Amino acid sequence: MNIPMPQVKPITQDNTKLQSEVIGLFKSGDLKWNTGGTIQEKKDGLNCVLQGLRKLQLWIEREYDVEKKKSLQNQYDARREETCKRLETLEKYEKGEIVQDTSGNGGSNQQQQKKQGEKDTKSELSNALSDAIVKDKPNVKWTDIAGLEAAKSALQEAVLLPIKFPDFFEGARTPWKGILMYGPPGTGKTYLAKACATEAEGTFFSVSSADLISKYVGESEKLIKTLFTMAREQKPSIIFIDEIDSMCGARGEGQNDASRRVITEFLVQMQGVGHDDKGVLVLGATNLPWALDTAIRRRFEKRIYIPLPDVQAREYMIQNSLKQTKTTLTKEQFEDLAVKTEGYSGSDISVLVRDAVYEPVRKLQSAKKFKQIPVNGQLKWTPVAENEDGTPKTFMELSQGDIAIPDVCYNDFLLALKKSKKSVSQDQLGDFEKWTKEFGQEG
Ligand SMILES: Nc1ncnc2c1ncn2[C@@H]1O[C@H](COP(=O)(O)OP(=O)(O)OP(=O)(O)O)[C@@H](O)[C@H]1O
Ligand SMILES: [Mg+2]
Repeated sequence: MNIPMPQVKPITQDNTKLQSEVIGLFKSGDLKWNTGGTIQEKKDGLNCVLQGLRKLQLWIEREYDVEKKKSLQNQYDARREETCKRLETLEKYEKGEIVQDTSGNGGSNQQQQKKQGEKDTKSELSNALSDAIVKDKPNVKWTDIAGLEAAKSALQEAVLLPIKFPDFFEGARTPWKGILMYGPPGTGKTYLAKACATEAEGTFFSVSSADLISKYVGESEKLIKTLFTMAREQKPSIIFIDEIDSMCGARGEGQNDASRRVITEFLVQMQGVGHDDKGVLVLGATNLPWALDTAIRRRFEKRIYIPLPDVQAREYMIQNSLKQTKTTLTKEQFEDLAVKTEGYSGSDISVLVRDAVYEPVRKLQSAKKFKQIPVNGQLKWTPVAENEDGTPKTFMELSQGDIAIPDVCYNDFLLALKKSKKSVSQDQLGDFEKWTKEFGQEG
């Protein structure tokens, strides 16, 4: 018997209707979302799209063409994701986190999202840099710095005068925009910058490569741009970049793209078109000036050599660092120490002084005999040498209030000098002098 096959309506027929419904719903949903000026209109648009999504789902279930099914599924996923984002945006509208654009422009929402995104990243970047602003003055005064008169006066000229007497700096007399301090390690470059931060009014940004170099592509440039924008907003300001060679080394063959872009951004920001650079000073410090990119070097209009301290500076440094310590040193002995520390850097000298002022404590620790001496009307124990008269004791038997620490003497320095070494070699100095002749200025 021939059983007649039931008449099956071809599925594709149904789908054509579904298809037009889906397209219609998406179209009008998008239109309402994009042009809607009120929250209600946006909500209506979103509802339309949601309806469309439901119909699309139905269509996918009914579709038997595998290829078509796949492409519909992709379309569905993309739509779904977009709708989720729109839902989030709508929530923000409702909470008042986004201000509505009532101009009714098509695509205004996308523009707003973009703007909002830009604002978010900008504030994130400013947050990342807010630590770089020196809020507590480091308390280093100009008088704490020994020697380096030329460097000090150049910095004062660039840092203090334009802020204090802006009227002097008109016409051709423009303040310096970039100052580079270079010299052997431990000669006071960072110390000078600290003095600037203490004495200068305005905002002081202290940044190192760690603050500005990010592992994310493109982020380092944005950080640099943000830094300069912040400096311009809060002028007068000083941007101090310590160890600048690590960021702005010469562009060359072996360099990767990222550091090349960092340098380019620096060049643009330090002397770019369309920026008002008045009131922003970039202060750099390095002990490898020859490693700097040539174009960066040019941006530092003043390049000041910070050399090892001379004999007077060394004497001043030793005397100054013993200001709050009791000593028996005479003027001649100070002079003698200054001569003996030829070739020492500022930092070597501060290590030497610290070592010397520890000598009395060491004496105390190793003493086996003590004697009593009057201090401010009170009898206190002080250590004596083995061959001198005294009571046998160790300092552990005494309490702090009973002890008089001996004053620092010339001999303590001689002992410390025997142990100490200078940290800068003659060769290094030669390199700096050569570079100074070519590109620099004595400090
Ligand atoms: N001219 C100076 N006057 C007084 N103290 C100094 C001077 N130079 C250096 N010092 C002392 O040495 C220390 C180290 O100096 P600083 O950190 O400024 O060296 P630097 O030149 O920045 O070295 P680097 O190139 O290694 O960074 C300072 O904290 C300070 O105590
Ligand atoms: Mg330093």
